[in-house]
Amino acid sequence: MKAVAVYPRKQGPVHLREVKKPIPTNGEVIIRALEVGVCGTDREIVNGLYGDAPYGSDFLILGHESLGIAESDGVDVKKGDMVVATVRRPCPEHCLNCTRGEIDMCLTGNYREKGIKGLHGFMTEYYTEDPKYLVRVPHDLRHVAILLEPLSVVEKVIEQIFKIQKRLAWEPRTALVLGAGPIGLLSTFVLRDIGIATYTFARSPSGRLNDRLLEESGAHYLSATDTPLSYIPSKVGQIDLIVEATGSASLPFEAIGVLGINGIIALTGIAGQGRILEIDTSCINLKIVLENKLVFGSVNANKSHFETGVRRLKSIEERWPGVLRNMITRRVPIQRSQEALEKGDSDMKVVIEV
Ligand code: BGC
Repeated sequence: MKAVAVYPRKQGPVHLREVKKPIPTNGEVIIRALEVGVCGTDREIVNGLYGDAPYGSDFLILGHESLGIAESDGVDVKKGDMVVATVRRPCPEHCLNCTRGEIDMCLTGNYREKGIKGLHGFMTEYYTEDPKYLVRVPHDLRHVAILLEPLSVVEKVIEQIFKIQKRLAWEPRTALVLGAGPIGLLSTFVLRDIGIATYTFARSPSGRLNDRLLEESGAHYLSATDTPLSYIPSKVGQIDLIVEATGSASLPFEAIGVLGINGIIALTGIAGQGRILEIDTSCINLKIVLENKLVFGSVNANKSHFETGVRRLKSIEERWPGVLRNMITRRVPIQRSQEALEKGDSDMKVVIEV
C-alpha cells in the first residue's frame, strides 16, 4: 500500500513509498484512511526543520490530522465507525501526566507524536491504532471531521484559559484572536460559539475568504493594513483574552500592551528560530505586574478535547452552516501529495484524499 514519507531533518520533497499493510495486534483496530489534513508542522517537517523518524527507520510517514473508517471491532469502536486518532503517545518513563491520559502535558518531553516525532503518521492507506486513542465521529460530520485535530488544539486552549482564570472573578466579554489561518479561524468560531464578542486581527487586507467566513459567525475582522494592533483597544474597548495563532516572534510581546487588566494571552504559534528582537522589557514587566496579566503557552490536546471538538463541530455546523466546509480550500489525491504540501496564496486548509 502507498504512504507519503520524508527523510526527517533533510529538506523534501515528500516521496510516495510502498509499505506493508499493517496487521492489528493487542486489541488494535485497523483503519482505512479517508483523508489527512496538512498544516504548518507538516510543512516544517518537509523543509527539514522538524520531525523524527521512528526508532530504526530512516523515513517518517507524515500526517497527524486524520480521518478514517474502522475496518475491525475494538473496545468502544465498531467496524464501520468513522474515527479520528489523537496525536500524542505516552513517554516511556510513564510520567504523572502521561499516566493520567494527559499526554499533551507530558513532563519528560519524551512523548511521541504520530507523523511528527518518533511514530509513523496517517498519510497511508491503512493504519492500526489502540482504540483508546480513537474518537468516534458521527457520519453526518464526514465533510468537516478532518478539522477535528486542529479544533482539539483550540478546545484545549480555551479550556485552559477558563481554568486558569478561575484565579479571579472574571466575566470575559471581548476576545482578540491574532491570525486568521486555520487555528485563528477555529479559535474565532469557538469563542463566538460560547458567546464572546470576537475580533480577529491578521495581515491580509479585508475581503478575503478567511474574513468572510469569520464574519459569518458574527466576529469582526481587523486587517493590519488599516488598524495597527496598538489601536485596537480604542476601537473595541477592554480586551479580556487573546489567542495568538500567528507564529510571529514579536506580536505576542506587542499583544501584552493591548490586553486589558486581569487579562490572559494564550500563545499557540511557533516562531521561526533565530529572531532577535529589540524590545523595552521594563514596559512589558510593568504591564504584566501592575495589571495582573498572564501569558501562557499551549500545545497539542488530549482525548477529552477531541470529544469536546466533536460536539463543537456539530454546534458550529448548525449555527453557521458552511463555514467549516469552506475552510477546506483544496483536496489533493495522495499521488500528488507534494502539491498539497506546497502552500498556495489562497490556501486555508488543504486535505489529502487517500
Ligand atoms: C499538532 C500538535 C503537535 C504540535 C507539535 C501541531 O501541528 O497539531 O498535535 O503537538 O504540532 O508537534
